[in-house]
Amino acid sequence: MLTSSKDLGVGLLLHLKKSCQGKTIEGIDQSTWQNVVLMRILITGVAGFVGSNLALRLKEWHPDWELCGIDNLRRRGGEFNLPRLRQAGVNFFHGDIRCPDDFPRGDIDILIDCAAEPSVLAGYGGDSPRYVIDANLVGLLNCLELARERRSKLFFLSTSRVYPIQPLNDLAFREDETRYALEAAQSLPGASEWGIAEDFPLMGQRSIYGATKLCGELLIQEYAAAYQLDSTITRFGVIAGPWQMGKVDQGVFSLWVGAHLWQRPLTYCGWGGAGKQLRDVLHVDDLCELVDFQLREPQLFVGKIFNAGGGLERSLSLCETTELCAELTGNRVPIASQLENRPADLRIFVTDSRRIETATGWSPRRSAKQTCEDLCRWMRDHQDLLANVF
Ligand SMILES: NC(=O)c1ccc[n+]([C@@H]2O[C@H](COP(=O)([O-])OP(=O)(O)OC[C@H]3O[C@@H](n4cnc5c(N)ncnc54)[C@H](O)[C@@H]3O)[C@@H](O)[C@H]2O)c1
Repeated sequence: MLTSSKDLGVGLLLHLKKSCQGKTIEGIDQSTWQNVVLMRILITGVAGFVGSNLALRLKEWHPDWELCGIDNLRRRGGEFNLPRLRQAGVNFFHGDIRCPDDFPRGDIDILIDCAAEPSVLAGYGGDSPRYVIDANLVGLLNCLELARERRSKLFFLSTSRVYPIQPLNDLAFREDETRYALEAAQSLPGASEWGIAEDFPLMGQRSIYGATKLCGELLIQEYAAAYQLDSTITRFGVIAGPWQMGKVDQGVFSLWVGAHLWQRPLTYCGWGGAGKQLRDVLHVDDLCELVDFQLREPQLFVGKIFNAGGGLERSLSLCETTELCAELTGNRVPIASQLENRPADLRIFVTDSRRIETATGWSPRRSAKQTCEDLCRWMRDHQDLLANVF
């Protein structure tokens, strides 16, 4: 009887486990067999900001796991991630999740859906909403079908944008010197000075992007009930960090740091044009640690919906971000003021993640300042590559 993985070596055990499709082999004891975790993971949107960071971190932490990913390279700058993925041993498939035939063949244990049109402005200002709905909803349907057919678990990156706009903007707030802030006493459940929790009411309009994500959550819950599909839904607030190709409608912290570094003009849009609107920020490495934890301890998360974000402690207004960027880059840039709000603008969004922190023990470790420092360092290290993207 072989009693430990040392007798055979993890590599050989994995090979055996794969070739006999997980069934036990006489002579190898149960606990050794079960401890060899065979994970085959498919990440959609793998060339994007979250998808690429996640793929590379998971491969670094679990070299034995098989990782592959699909992306249609719609997001500018995603092509820079392809050599990094290849070098790390992540298999890349150029394909579109709107087309079921584009998905790679073969067994999958876990599907992590990071492909989306993530802009809250998508479908406004004369744009058709077709792409954001097709990619985010039809694409998710194809992921669900794949997960159902291949008996894999599904991890879905939802968003704080599922919460409706008007009730958020109607919350009691105060205007401090450099930011707006939520008052402690609020008339709606799920709202407090700590931000927005999971039980905030969902009635109301939320942007086309937010609607696709909420519809996605509902579909996932139906698949879970009808087909016993194990699924994990996490609603993330703003995420930032290296390899985020910030643009005006998405990736504001990255955009702000980049504009300071390359001395490009900026605009405070809406809310009186003073830059007091407030967001919390989650470092992408904190997200990667959370997803890794979710993969390893699924029983804590399956069937539940949690908010996850930087929280009040990691919140910054735009004008506070300006000061931080000036300190980090040594540059000041002209900042115009646009008084009118854009569609779907929020005065304040801070994620109240206390529920996930209490239930699971996960909490973010990196400060908002560290997130901006890491962005700045990454941009400085890749000036030539990035100057044209920002
Ligand atoms: N970045 C944030 O602040 C944030 C916050 C909350 C939730 N999320 C969610 O996290 C996920 C990842 O977002 P991100 O910030 O990495 O965005 P991103 O734009 O950097 O990455 C998305 C990737 O999906 C790809 N993609 C788009 N449509 C596709 C299609 N039809 N087929 C295949 N690939 C397609 C893009 O090319 C891109 O590489 C999204 O689901 C988003 O809704 C992001």
